[in-house]
Amino acid sequence: MTRTPVNVTVTGAAGQIGYALLFRIASGQLLGADVPVKLRLLEIPQAVKAAEGTAMELDDCAFPLLAGIDIFDNPTDGFAGANVALLVGARPRTKGMERGDLLAANGGIFGPQGKAINDGAADDIRVLVVGNPANTNALIASAAAPDVPASRFTAMTRLDHNRAISQLSAKTGVSVSDIKKLTIWGNHSATQYPDIFHAEVAGKNAAEVVGDEKWLADDFIPTVAKRGAAIIEARGASSAASAANAAIDHVFDWVNGTPEGDWTSAAIPSDGSYGVAEGIISSFPVTSENGEWKIVQGLEINDFSRSRIDASVAELVEERDAVKELGLL
Ligand code: NAD
Ligand code: LMR
Repeated sequence: MTRTPVNVTVTGAAGQIGYALLFRIASGQLLGADVPVKLRLLEIPQAVKAAEGTAMELDDCAFPLLAGIDIFDNPTDGFAGANVALLVGARPRTKGMERGDLLAANGGIFGPQGKAINDGAADDIRVLVVGNPANTNALIASAAAPDVPASRFTAMTRLDHNRAISQLSAKTGVSVSDIKKLTIWGNHSATQYPDIFHAEVAGKNAAEVVGDEKWLADDFIPTVAKRGAAIIEARGASSAASAANAAIDHVFDWVNGTPEGDWTSAAIPSDGSYGVAEGIISSFPVTSENGEWKIVQGLEINDFSRSRIDASVAELVEERDAVKELGLL
C-alpha cells in the first residue's frame, strides 16, 4: 500500500542549516525509511531563488521518498497542511542590537508563523523551533496558535544533548552508544545545564565514574554550554550540519519514540515539574511515547544541579517577561 506523503515545512530553507537538513529529510531520516515526504520550503522573498537552487539539487538526487517540493515566500501558504514544521529561519543578532531588539525582531517572524500554523496546518502538526532564541521563539509561536495544543511547540536542545554525550564519551573513553540518561535543563543558551548525575556510562553512574566535580563545573559544563560560540569563533558561522543532525534526531524520536531504557532532552512547555515555571518552554529529560513528549519524573535534584537549573529557568522567565512586555504573548 502506498502511504500518503507527510508534509514537512522548513523555514530558512536557503540557509546553512536548511542546506544540511533538506537532503536528510528527503532521504527518509527525519520520519523513517518508509515514509514519503513533501517538502514545503519557506523563505523570505530575497532568498527564494537560492531555495529554488536547492530544490533543483534535491530533484537531482532522485530520492525515492521525495513526493514533491514547493517553495513559498509567505507563512500562510508555507504552513498550509503541514504535519511537521521545522522553524529554522530567524533574525540573527547583529552589531549594536540589544536583547529586547532581538526578541522584538523575532516576534515579528514567529508570531505570524504561529498564526499561520494555527490557521492552516494539519491537525497533527508538530513544531520544532531551531532559530534562536529558540525557546522563546517557540513560546511566541505557540501563543499565536491558541487552537494548537501547546505541547506541539518545542525548541531544540538536542544539539546540546549530543554535545554533552560526546564530551562525556571523550572523558570516560566509553562509546557514545553506551552513554544514557543524560539531561540538558533550561535554555538553549550559555545558562543551560548539562546534568550527568543521573546519566549512565556503560551501566554505571556517570558522576561516580567521573568522580571529579571540578571537571564538571570548570570544564564539562562550560564546554557544552559555550560550544555554539566556540564553533562560531572557529568556523566564522554557527553550527549547521550538527544542528541539522540534532533536528533530525529530535523529530525522529518524537514521532517514532525514544529507545527503551534511555531518555533524551527537548525543550517543551513546562507543567511545573522540578520547580520549572509553568508555561515556559524549557529543556527537560524526556521520553516520547505514542508521538507525545513526557517529562521523566522522580529524579532527585542535588544542590549542585538545583542552582544551575534555577539560573537557566530564571533567564527563560526574564525572556518571557520581556516578550510579554512587547505584547508578543
Ligand atoms: P542562515 O543565516 O544561514 O539561514 C537563515 C535563513 O533563514 C536565511 O536563508 C534567511 O533568508 C531565512 N529567514 C530569515 N527570516 C525568515 C522568515 N521570516 N521566514 C523564512 N525564512 C527566513 O542561518 P543558519 O545557520 O541556518 O541558522 C538558522 C538559525 O538557527 C539561527 O537563528 C541560529 O542561531 C540557529 N541555530 C540554533 C541551534 C540550536 O541548537 N537551537 C543551533 C545552530 C543554529
Ligand atoms: C549553537 O548552539 O551552535 C547555536 O545556537 C549558536 C548560535 O548562536 O547560532
